[in-house]
Amino acid sequence: MGTLSIGHYDSVLLLKVAMVVVAMVSSTAYGAGNFRNEFESTFGGDRVRISGPSSEQLSLSLDQSSGSGFRSKKEYMFGRIDMQMKFVAGNSAGTVTTLYLSSDQSTGRHDEIDFEFLGNVTGQPYTLHTNVFSQGQGSREQQFHLWFDPTANFHTYSIVWNPQLIMFLVDETPLRVFRNYENKGISFFPKHQPQRIYASLWEADDWATQGGAVKTDWSKAPFTAYYRNFNIDNSPNGKWRTHDLDANSRKRMKWVQKNYMIYDYCSDWKRFSQAFPPECKHSKAEFLVDETPLRVFRNYENKGISFFPKHQPQRIYASLWEADDWATQGGAVKTDWSKAPFTAYYRNFNIDNSPNGKWRTHDLDANSRKRMKWVQKNYMIYDYCTDWKRFSQAFPPECKHSKAE
Ligand SMILES: *[C@@H]1O[C@H](CO)[C@@H](O)[C@H](O)[C@H]1NC(C)=O
Repeated sequence: MGTLSIGHYDSVLLLKVAMVVVAMVSSTAYGAGNFRNEFESTFGGDRVRISGPSSEQLSLSLDQSSGSGFRSKKEYMFGRIDMQMKFVAGNSAGTVTTLYLSSDQSTGRHDEIDFEFLGNVTGQPYTLHTNVFSQGQGSREQQFHLWFDPTANFHTYSIVWNPQLIMFLVDETPLRVFRNYENKGISFFPKHQPQRIYASLWEADDWATQGGAVKTDWSKAPFTAYYRNFNIDNSPNGKWRTHDLDANSRKRMKWVQKNYMIYDYCSDWKRFSQAFPPECKHSKAEFLVDETPLRVFRNYENKGISFFPKHQPQRIYASLWEADDWATQGGAVKTDWSKAPFTAYYRNFNIDNSPNGKWRTHDLDANSRKRMKWVQKNYMIYDYCTDWKRFSQAFPPECKHSKAE
C-alpha cells in the first residue's frame, strides 16, 4: 500500500499533547467498568456522555466545532486494557476514533501505544492504525483492515503491555506483537514511564481518509462512537504479566497479517532506505549446527509464494575445492599452495527419511528459537532479506513473511 505521510502523524501527536496534565501512579486492579469512577473528560464538554445503570457505557461525539475525549484518572505501569467499541457508522470519512496509552507528553520524551481507527466513506473499510512510541520516537506503524464491519456491533479492542511485549488484539485475535529486544541491545521499548488510557473522537480530514482525498461530510454531523464494558487489569499476578503468543494465537495472527495487514513499517524499504529500525531484523524466523538452528526457510505457498524446493528429489553432495578469485575477503587473499594438500574430514553421518521420522514435523520450539536468535544476532554476517541495496526495487516475496513470529 501507499507510503505514510509522517507529518500528519505529528499532528496527531500535537493534539494529544494538548490534552495532558499532571498524573499519579496507581497499582489497583478492578474490572467493574465504571466510566465515572475510572475516567475523566479531556475535551468536548457534553459531547462526552456516560450512561447505563453502572456507568458502563460512554459515547463520544464530533461536530464541526469540536470532537471529544476522555482519559483514565490513574496512570499505569504495565497491564491490560480491554474496551468494547463501536465506530461512527455510514460516511465516517475524515473522522478518527482512538484508544491509546500515553505517558506525560509534556516531557518531550513520552511513550505511547496507539490504536487509531480511521473512518471511510460508506461501504469502504475503516483502517486500524497501530503505533508505538518510546522516549518521544514513533514511526513504528502497522495498519490493518478488519474482517468485520466495526460500525455494526461492539467488538473488543485490547492492548497488553508488559515488560517483554506489547500486543494489540481484536476480539482476542492478536494483530501485532511488538517485543522488547533490550537483551539484543535494542532500547526501543516503552517501559520507564507510567501511562494513562486515552480515547477520543476527532476530525483529521486533511489526511485520515484515502490520504486526505475524501473530506468529512458535515451534513452528517454529529458523528458518534461508542465505548462500553471496559476492563483494566494491572493486578500484580494478572495473566497480562506473562501474556504471549501460543500456537493457536500465532496462527491467528499470521492469518490476520496475511489477509488484512495493509502497511508494515518493517517492510517499507522506500521510507527506511538507509537502514530499517533495529527491531525489524529480529521479528524474523529461520540449518542446524550442533542442534542450534541457524536459519529457517519456510514454504509460504499458502500465501501465494511458490519459491520452495518440493517437486524434485535431491542427492546429498559434499566437496572441497579452490575458489581464490572470490572466497576469502572477496578474493583479496589467495591460496598459499606451499601448504597443499588441504584436507577436510567427514564422519558419522546419519540420514533420516523414515515416513514417520521427527524430521517430518520438525520446527522451532521456544528453546531452539532462542538459540537461533542468538546465532543470528551474534554470528550472522549477511541476510539477503535486509540487503535493500541489492533489492532496491522489491525484496523477494518470502522476505515479507519471515517477519512477525
Ligand atoms: C478507505 O477505502 C479505501 C478503498 O477501499 C481503502 O484503500 C482505504 O484503506 C480505506 N481506509 C481509509 C482510512 O482510507
